[in-house]
Amino acid sequence: MNPQLLFWIPAALRLTIVLLGAAAAGYFFGVTAGLAIGLLALLVLVIVQLKYLYLLSGWLDHPESEKLPDGWGAWTDVFSRLYRLRRDDERNRKDLSEWLTRFRQAMSLLPDGVAIMDDVLFLEWCNPTAERHLGLSNTRDKGMRVTNLIRDPAFIDYIILGRYDQPLTLNVRDRKLVVQIIPFENRRQILVTHDVTETERIDMMRRDFIANASHELRTPLTVINGFLEIAYAQPDLDQTTRMGHLKLMIEQGQRMQNLIEDMLTLTRLESIDYPLRKEQVNIRNLLEQLLREAEALSGGRHTITLAIDGPDIEGNTDELRSAFGNLVTNAIRYTPEGGQIHIQWSQTENGPQFSVQDSGIGIRAEHIARLTERFYRVDKSRSRETQGTGLGLAIVKHVLLRHGATLAIESEEGKGSTFMTRFPI
Ligand SMILES: Nc1ncnc2c1ncn2[C@@H]1O[C@H](COP(=O)(O)OP(=O)(O)OP(=O)(O)O)[C@@H](O)[C@H]1O
Ligand SMILES: [Mg+2]
Repeated sequence: MNPQLLFWIPAALRLTIVLLGAAAAGYFFGVTAGLAIGLLALLVLVIVQLKYLYLLSGWLDHPESEKLPDGWGAWTDVFSRLYRLRRDDERNRKDLSEWLTRFRQAMSLLPDGVAIMDDVLFLEWCNPTAERHLGLSNTRDKGMRVTNLIRDPAFIDYIILGRYDQPLTLNVRDRKLVVQIIPFENRRQILVTHDVTETERIDMMRRDFIANASHELRTPLTVINGFLEIAYAQPDLDQTTRMGHLKLMIEQGQRMQNLIEDMLTLTRLESIDYPLRKEQVNIRNLLEQLLREAEALSGGRHTITLAIDGPDIEGNTDELRSAFGNLVTNAIRYTPEGGQIHIQWSQTENGPQFSVQDSGIGIRAEHIARLTERFYRVDKSRSRETQGTGLGLAIVKHVLLRHGATLAIESEEGKGSTFMTRFPI
């Protein structure tokens, strides 16, 4: 039945009984007695209501600890509904606390550190990994400002700049951490820490290994190549030995030498001990020299044009020569005879730009994103033919990275490619 009716019907019934009782008393014993009995009955009713109100107010003071009072009349319904509410509430709270326990357990098993802060960076909670990574304590530091707990200037700058879309690399107590802040729920932020010490160490070992191996291979190879040249120049050689065996050996020896030089260049570009030595780069000189080399490599098989319409920049001339040179060499290598190559230095609204456009074989879209990976070649057999090692664009990428520049590639298979390097303003 409708709860409204459940409330009003008994209340109305009770009032009716009081009124009827008072009327009957009035009829039998006179008006005064009727009024007195009616008033007395109403007084009893009011006292009973007040008693339940008092019990309810007492219960509201300690809803968890005390048993709910039994009711009378409409109060029975009120108390039973309150009882149900309390039971549901208890169940919800139990569910929530179980869920929270499970969530905390999961968080404490995470290999990454997680700390939750409010909008003004006061620590609310952190998992054991974050405690270990950042030297925090969930109990001691709760409610403290994170910038007072992590005092690294790089971290403070990160907070001040507020560019949280980028992670920050921090050195904390001999560990290398990648740290990022993720705002959520408007008024909260999560600080995530990831330990990259081991990855860095392995990376360094790999770099050192390549550097050492390349270095150790360079000297014997130079000797072998030198003697091959001497052997090639001997006058009393038969044709098969000179043009067949020796020529092939010299070509392959040269290829190995190029590969080793490229690997050494890459290692050097990656090394933190090898900072960029900046100078004013004379772009015109550099590009005219590149044009001459390109024409020599092409041997008249391509039409090569150069346009310079932009300012000089600051950078390292040798590194830029190697990067731009690779793009021009690629254009020549991967453009069939009769094709056009246009080299351009220009000023765009986003800064100076170097571009090489060719009418060559082009690159299918799925390869473009992978071109700057080491040893990545679209067509291995053709690259072998052109003596490519697949390290050229990796070197280009690293040189550009050191100059704060980016590489953009547009290409259509069969039509040609444009490689653009964009420098900061
Ligand atoms: N202009 C271009 N047109 C078509 N394909 C290209 C062009 N430039 C590069 N590529 C493709 O990208 C691959 C990677 O180029 P990258 O310069 O890194 O290596 P490579 O030229 O093969 O060797 P090297 O290390 O001697 O430069 C090439 O093997 C080629 O398949
Ligand atoms: Mg190349």
